[in-house]
Amino acid sequence: MSKKISFEVKNIPYKKINSTLFVIGQYKSDKVEKSLDTLFDGRLTTAFKVDSFKGDYNKSVELYGNKNISKLCVIGLGDKKIFTSDKLRALAANIIRKAESNKISSISIDSKSFGLSNDILSQAFSEGLMLGQYSFNYYKSKKTNTVVKKIQVIGESSLKALNKGSVIGSAVNYSRDLGNHPANILTPTYLANEAKQISKSKNFKVKIIDIKDFERLGLGSFYGVAMGSATPAKFIIVEYFGGKKNDKPFGLIGKGLTFDTGGISLKPPTRMDEMKFDMCGGATVFGLMKAVSELQPKMNIIFAIGATENTPSSNAQRPGDIVKAYNGKTIEVLNTDAEGRLVLADVLSYINKNYKPSAMIDFATLTGAVLIALGDRASGIMGNNEKLINDIKLSSEETGEMVWQLPLWDEYCKDIKSQIADIKNLGRSRLAGTISAGAFLKEFVDKTPWVHVDIAGTAWGPKEPSYMPKNGATGVAVRLIYNLLEKKI
Ligand code: BES
Ligand code: MN
Ligand code: ZN
Repeated sequence: MSKKISFEVKNIPYKKINSTLFVIGQYKSDKVEKSLDTLFDGRLTTAFKVDSFKGDYNKSVELYGNKNISKLCVIGLGDKKIFTSDKLRALAANIIRKAESNKISSISIDSKSFGLSNDILSQAFSEGLMLGQYSFNYYKSKKTNTVVKKIQVIGESSLKALNKGSVIGSAVNYSRDLGNHPANILTPTYLANEAKQISKSKNFKVKIIDIKDFERLGLGSFYGVAMGSATPAKFIIVEYFGGKKNDKPFGLIGKGLTFDTGGISLKPPTRMDEMKFDMCGGATVFGLMKAVSELQPKMNIIFAIGATENTPSSNAQRPGDIVKAYNGKTIEVLNTDAEGRLVLADVLSYINKNYKPSAMIDFATLTGAVLIALGDRASGIMGNNEKLINDIKLSSEETGEMVWQLPLWDEYCKDIKSQIADIKNLGRSRLAGTISAGAFLKEFVDKTPWVHVDIAGTAWGPKEPSYMPKNGATGVAVRLIYNLLEKKI
């Protein structure tokens, strides 16, 4: 949980600053900032010498007691040639964490040394502040409130860019909150209510399809997963029309398994609690919805989340069952734990048919296998359109959210053919599990440009760098995809 930080930009000389903490950056081979050193009677030069401070990345020097600046902190930016916006984002997170732990509410930041006259850097900086301030203490009876509510930027900087970073950062935090709530609280109905809440914003409309209508509408694949659970499933669709009336919408789709026990193909008990995070793909879509509701980009977007639990019961789907998806394809369900693809099959084909999107991206904690392939830092991406894949790779470089492409070659796509139905929900045992899940989804997008993002390794922590949480949901891909959407306006 975190409230947005508000910014004030003040273009004043150092001697006019009035602040408890003033933070300034220092590149490796750069000279000491003369005017500041003078203001501190040459003690800055002394401190650099005594601490052997050379401006190495994330090393810092602190000075106390000038009459207007109670504490001065110089943070190393490292080598100028390899400095990136992502490094700045991480430094901002460190700054806010330090201020929070020392309960310093009034901070001023030097714009010039941190490069905050540049919009990309100032956005990254305020994102880092928001992300670093995040903690999830909703269920603690003793809540600790955040201390830093306002930040002064000294020098030239765009308030618009700073505020945008704050909006995007808090959208990521919102996504983290949704991921972190446990399954007894965060049900499909809870998510549907969140969608209704956001849809009160300008240009939004919401449509919730209840489980009782799934079969009648032909959502047989989604229904098969949902029918065993006493907690009712919801198909959540949110329309955003901020663009021209006839512009095709962009489709953003999320797997929203509020808990995945595996169903009749029950998972082993170890770390099963983590399966409350199986709705993190949906949480990514919700984070994007939140950012869009506040920033109102001039484009059309359809957000869709397939929300359900996957549980064993006497009404649950059995291994071997055959179901029919929305696009008419029949699926042999060989393992009820490969449920995410079954839900997404219907969500993708429903959105594709009813909204004719210009492109679709889906987010899902789909396979444990992606952790084997890529570890827990990069999300796996695959799709049917190289242009869209390359656009996402570019956004990945710009946002620091790592992705890596896996192939969807025809040779692999054959692995999901079934003997008795059109396809089956398993590939070959232990081989290329992430790719066969992607190959399965490909059957439901027709010719529409589409990319699947497997976030099973990236959706929850512990994670680095410092703006990521030490535990719990990460809000992965919200920043990545907002960056992409902006390029489509
Ligand atoms: N939600 C899981 C994937 C998962 C596993 C995410 C571990 C994060 C950590 C998904 O529904 C699942 O169970 N997938 C199976 C597929 C298999 C049965 C083909 C898996 O990955 O084991
Ligand atoms: Mn599963
Ligand atoms: Zn799952």
